[in-house]
Formats: sequence, C-alpha cells, structure tokens
Amino acid sequence: MPTLERLPAGPLTLPQLLGEVDHTAAAARPTGLPELDRVLGGGLVPGSVTLVGGEPGIGKSTLLLQTLCDLSSRGERCLLVSAEESAQQVRLRAERLTGTLAPHLWILAETALPSVASAIDQLQPSTVVVDSIQTVYHPEVGGTPGSVAQVRECAAALVGIAKRSTTAIVLVGHVTKEGSLAGPRLLEHVVDTVLSFEGDRHHALRLLRAVKHRFGSTDELGVFEMSEDGLRGVPDAGALFLNDRRPGSPGSVVVPAMEGQRPLMVEIQGLVADTELAFGRRSAQGLDSARLAVVLAVIERRMDIKLTKKDVYASAVGGVRVTEPASDLALALALLSSVGNVPLPDGVVACGEVGLGGEVRQVAHVSRRLAEAIRLGFTTAVVPASTPDGPDGIELIRVHTVHEAAGSLGLTARSR
Ligand code: TYD
Ligand code: MG
Repeated sequence: MPTLERLPAGPLTLPQLLGEVDHTAAAARPTGLPELDRVLGGGLVPGSVTLVGGEPGIGKSTLLLQTLCDLSSRGERCLLVSAEESAQQVRLRAERLTGTLAPHLWILAETALPSVASAIDQLQPSTVVVDSIQTVYHPEVGGTPGSVAQVRECAAALVGIAKRSTTAIVLVGHVTKEGSLAGPRLLEHVVDTVLSFEGDRHHALRLLRAVKHRFGSTDELGVFEMSEDGLRGVPDAGALFLNDRRPGSPGSVVVPAMEGQRPLMVEIQGLVADTELAFGRRSAQGLDSARLAVVLAVIERRMDIKLTKKDVYASAVGGVRVTEPASDLALALALLSSVGNVPLPDGVVACGEVGLGGEVRQVAHVSRRLAEAIRLGFTTAVVPASTPDGPDGIELIRVHTVHEAAGSLGLTARSR
C-alpha cells in the first residue's frame, strides 16, 4: 500500500470555498425548442456533454439539426459534425426545415476525431453536435468505428474537450431495437445527460425523456410530432392520444396516465375473443405484459371469469407506452367491457393499481390526473376508495375492488 507521503506530487488544485465557486457559467442556455428545453430543465449547460439515444430513423438528426439552426439564428456559433450524412445532404435538409440557411452554423463532414477536435478548437462554438458517436474514429485506438473501445475513447476525448471549454457537446447514439445501445449504454456514466428519443415508427409521435440528468430532474417529458417540415413541439399533449377514439365502443377505457410530471389521457383497449387453441394468445401493445398477466389472473380468480380459452389483446392506443401500475384498473375494465360486450358510459376515466387480491390501490398524483381529465371534458372518474376529495367538476366513483368497479359501471360479469 502506498502511503500518502509516497504519492507522486502532481499539479496542485487547491480546495475552494463552495460559496466562491462561479456558478453563472454553468447556467443552462435555452435551445429554442421548448419541448427540448423542458426535458433539459432549461437548456444546454455550457461545458456539458449530452447523449441523445434512439433507434435509427426516429428523428435524432432532425431534432438536433433543428436545434442548431435555431441556436445559430440567434447568433450562437454552432458546429455540426456530420459523420453519417454528407454536407450537401445536411444543407438540403436544413434549407427544407427552416426555409433559410442558418447564419452561424458550420458543418464538418468528417469521421476522424483529431479533425473534430481541431475544428472545435478553431471555431470555439457554443454548441457542437456529433452525429453519431458510433461513426467517429479515434486513430490511436484499435477496432472499427462503433466498437466498444472506439466509442468509449471517442466519447472520453469529447468529454475532455467539453470540460476544458464552455462548449456544450451533444452526441447522437443509435440504439438497436433490442435496447442494446451498441455503445451509448456504456457511455451513460461518462456523460452528464442521457436523453432517449422514442416513438413508434408507424406514428408521428415522438417522446423525449431524460434517462440521466446531472443538472436537473429526469421527470420531464418532451412531446413532438414528426411532420413534413420536421419535428413540431406539442405543448398541449393531454388529449393527444384520444384523437381517433370512438366513445361508446366496448373494450375502451381512458386512463389519466402520468408521463413524468405530465398528465396524458390515454385510451386503453381490450379485446377478448374465443380461440381454437388450447391456450389463448396474450398480446400487450404499449402496456407491460407482466401487468396484463396479473390483471387477467385477478379477473379469473376474483371474478370467476374463465379466460384460458380466450385470446386476449390489450393495447395503449397511439404509439405511447403506459407501464405504470395506475393503468391496471383501466386495463381490467377494458377487458371486462369487452368480455361483456358492454361499453363504458360516456365521459369516464379510471385509474388505480390492481393488487393480487383484486383490490384497487392508490396511485400518485391523483389530483393532477383528475384536473387534466376535467380540463378535457371528462365528468366521472373511477378511483381507489382511499382517494382524497378531488377537484370540483368531476364525480368520483370510489371503489375497493375491480369487481366493485365493474359493477358500478354496469359491466356485467358474464363471460362470452
Ligand atoms: P432522422 O432525423 O434522419 O432520424 P435518425 O437520425 O434518428 O436516424 O429522421 C428520419 C426520418 O424522419 C425519415 O424517415 C424521414 C422523417 N422525416 C420527416 O418525416 N420529416 C422531416 O421533415 C424530416 C427531416 C424527416
Ligand atoms: Mg441520423
């Protein structure tokens, strides 16, 4: 064991009084995209490194090009390191997205890290986007671009550059369908912030959330729509998922879900159908299949409805994922509504966690959920019995069990 006296003397950094640390430099600067700023808690922090992960084609390049165009139109020097697309392609896209060309936006279509480093050194930009971290290349490290060693070393070098300057660096990282961030996952601890850009390719909706955020909360959700002319922020997302809903059809129940701090009304659909198979299929789209299994077991055992010889399909509509237990009750009611072929009355939402005993349990943020339901015109909420008095404007049906909830809505408990 080396003793303290024998440690080699290095350059000395003296301790500083916390109150004397200059914190103004670290204040977040708005990007100009309100939905992105919401997730970042204000904007990009100078000298920070942010990783934006997402599946190929989800819109990462579009999001960040829009960000850079916007920043540069406000006079900030920006650099886009385009290691995947040619400079011509990027120019065309930028023109199409913004109509004009951003005045202070530089592009470097280059994959070699030393060129990237010297471009940053020369330009001293406020913001740099490296698209993507899997395609840049460190000549002193073995392996092909995108390999673990390459991704790690390139990221470490870029983090070093950011920390020594006031440049905010954003790294783009591709994530495969299986969730293996061929690279980015191994970067989570190196960078300050990890954002995940998600969505269903078949829908225009894109959700941005923080997986890790050194400068603020990871609770905020950004909502965008991919359109002909790029990504558009959706500030009022509360009713977004109800657009094509047909009230009055069996198997449909609305849950006031929470995405971070944001209440979203989401339609949960259930379809229970006879099957020729010995055991029916179970399909959960946008829902947690383990929660579906629990809800089905509760319906079978506590309400004595046999579902083994039935196919059961359940989904959260609109390409959103609702995995919080608060959606259990809506899921159970959607399935029961389908089993009995009885629609729910108009204007009803339901939320509550379902326990193994069939009991309906309290969930967080009830008043926030109910306030949003009222704002969007819902008049009745089926909630756990222990729910405190909510805001005016909505009738609360307090229930102890799934059975009681089904009864209160006139969903007959007969199997068909
Ligand atoms: P892109 O940003 O290239 O995705 P990523 O960088 O995550 O791989 O976006 C790709 C998709 O977005 C592409 O399929 C086309 C679509 N798109 C639009 O629908 N509208 C637009 O204005 C743009 C720029 C792209
Ligand atoms: Mg891209």
